[in-house]
Amino acid sequence: MTRGDRTEHLIGLLLGTEEDWPRAFEELVRRLGAVRGPGGTPHTLRTERITIEPFDLRAKPRYDLVIDRLAYWYYHPREWLKKAALMDDVYLLNSPFTFQSMEKHAAYCAMLRLGLKVPTTVLVPPKEPLDNARWAYTSAKYNRQFDLEALAEQVGYPLFMKPFDGGAWVGVSRIADADALHKAYDESGQRLMHLQASVEGYDSFARSLTIGAETMVMKFRPELPMHDRYAVDHDFLPPSAGLEVLAISKLINAFFRWEFNSCESLVVGDQVHPIDYANACPDIAITSLHYYFPWAISALLKWSAFCAVTGRRPRLDTDTRRYFDVADSDLSYGDKLAAYAGLADDYFEKDRYDEFCATSLASLDDIVRDWVAGPEFDGLLVDTVRRTYPAHEQDRFVAHFRGLLSLWVADSAR
Ligand SMILES: Nc1ncnc2c1ncn2[C@@H]1O[C@H](COP(=O)(O)OP(=O)(O)OP(=O)(O)O)[C@@H](O)[C@H]1O
Ligand SMILES: [Mg+2]
Repeated sequence: MTRGDRTEHLIGLLLGTEEDWPRAFEELVRRLGAVRGPGGTPHTLRTERITIEPFDLRAKPRYDLVIDRLAYWYYHPREWLKKAALMDDVYLLNSPFTFQSMEKHAAYCAMLRLGLKVPTTVLVPPKEPLDNARWAYTSAKYNRQFDLEALAEQVGYPLFMKPFDGGAWVGVSRIADADALHKAYDESGQRLMHLQASVEGYDSFARSLTIGAETMVMKFRPELPMHDRYAVDHDFLPPSAGLEVLAISKLINAFFRWEFNSCESLVVGDQVHPIDYANACPDIAITSLHYYFPWAISALLKWSAFCAVTGRRPRLDTDTRRYFDVADSDLSYGDKLAAYAGLADDYFEKDRYDEFCATSLASLDDIVRDWVAGPEFDGLLVDTVRRTYPAHEQDRFVAHFRGLLSLWVADSAR
């Protein structure tokens, strides 16, 4: 029996330290019950938390779909995912083939090729020798001396120095002069670093979370503590910039086959500058997303159900030529964005997905709203706050998040 013929679907959760969204997801899968597939056949979904153990490369996994939150740092399950993708057609959010080989640097390259407004970015060789017996000979012969200060002058101050594959602000610094430049480069060790022109005085920082065919564009304030970074603000961008952020997010995710990813753009007037488009394990904690958490969990459940129940085939290949043909055409920037958005909607099967949500998952929005408004969700919220904050801050944060989630319940009932 192929994946597409089954009516019982097991969704594997590959987890690290998170408890909040997995509990939410497990509960909503239970509440959702049977889902009608194409042709009206009832399908059932179950979830299971995946354990890490030796695996035979020929063993058949029991999962139809796996939501991965671990393989970006734990390599045994990463190799298990690769086997499951190559040998067993398991549907992966996300596939390590698309993520570990296509990090932030690859996303910059693709975006530049597609004509997007990435700030000037230069990759410099590592500061420290690599631990490799071939290093001394190779670097003596082929590493060309370069003038770091002159390079920085060309990029222009202030600039950002940051790892080519980074995440979580590790190794990121804003550099205003040559002293800071040398200090940051000395500290970078063997890491490969970008120098990137800073987008100064931007009007908004847009963070967009893409889950399958859906994208939410949110106002982000990186300078505030985590619980305050996402602002509840529905019209913070000029309409054209809002559509552009949406189109770029869909485009990059479809281009690389990333189906669960967050993207960052800095918006100046109506100009959109993408700065970070590859996050293998996007933050979806209740304590970060608050108001937007129910949307994220619903989108994750809808996309998982759509892929499992309709037997959507996972794609390991990228289809770059279709995008490059648009990039190389004579179309205007706006028309290119529209063409890219069309390619992205094709990849994510947007029409079929919308139809599936409107029919097979018609009850889900009410199920989510009732659950968020009820005592079980409140228990999850309180547990999460207790795990996250010190005792003397817990009451304040419970009240804070309760307020934001009641606002969501009220807004979504409209
Ligand atoms: N070119 C830039 N112009 C202005 N600000 C920038 C630029 N690049 C990075 N920043 C600032 O530095 C922060 C961290 O940079 P970046 O997102 O590239 O690193 P990261 O390690 O992926 O961080 P995170 O995991 O928070 O996304 C950004 O959120 C932004 O505030
Ligand atoms: Mg970032």
